[in-house]
Amino acid sequence: MTHERTRPLTVPREAAAGGPGLFVTLEGGDGAGKTTQASMLEEWLTSHGRAVVRTREPGGTDVGVRIRDIVLHHRGHIAARAEALLYAADRAHHVETVVQPAIARGDVVIQDRYLDSSVAYQGAGRILDADDIRALSLWATGGLLPDLTVLLDLDPAAARRRLDADDKPFDRLEAEKADFHSRVRAGFLALAAREPHRFLVLDATLPPEELADRVREAVAALLD
Ligand code: TYD
Repeated sequence: MTHERTRPLTVPREAAAGGPGLFVTLEGGDGAGKTTQASMLEEWLTSHGRAVVRTREPGGTDVGVRIRDIVLHHRGHIAARAEALLYAADRAHHVETVVQPAIARGDVVIQDRYLDSSVAYQGAGRILDADDIRALSLWATGGLLPDLTVLLDLDPAAARRRLDADDKPFDRLEAEKADFHSRVRAGFLALAAREPHRFLVLDATLPPEELADRVREAVAALLD
């Protein structure tokens, strides 16, 4: 936290997802294969009769879709702190209206990106204070942490080759330079080292089926 601030942000107690459901997040750099893994996990869970909510940040709600458009497609500069607040605003609305109700119903929430993305991209990437960014997201979400976070770790140069092969225009974050993406990767790995009980770190260059096996194993252990 910066020393100029006179009133500290109230940070609630950090809690793993409370309620009968399960909250699983997928993290990693752009092009790491999160969407593929989310789909494979969803398929496996639903084939075993579990209710699943597949969602993402930014943009998991109608309000979030509008915020996503600003943070990913605004032409021109957005102040780093404003960007951090926009992601946090998307997250606050998403958790209250989608994620928490699903966990309370007993569903499994499979989510593409959550607060660790903010710490890695806005903290390590934009060089804001990582603890401030984490505290902001915890305030936004009432302290909700995932039960499991799968980090698909990939060298940024390999990620860039995958994105180039996709032939889609880059969004604001994807268009950042290589050193930005190297900091993001290091940021994710530092987070995983800090909370080894919550994170499953996987080498994203492994075949998708092998990665899916490891993810299923970790989810099954939590559901037992
Ligand atoms: P998206 O297309 O969802 O990324 P991907 O398909 O790579 O998962 O775009 C989300 C982008 O927003 C991605 O570049 C990471 C960035 N981001 C942040 O910078 N902070 C955040 O808190 C979140 C959730 C995403």
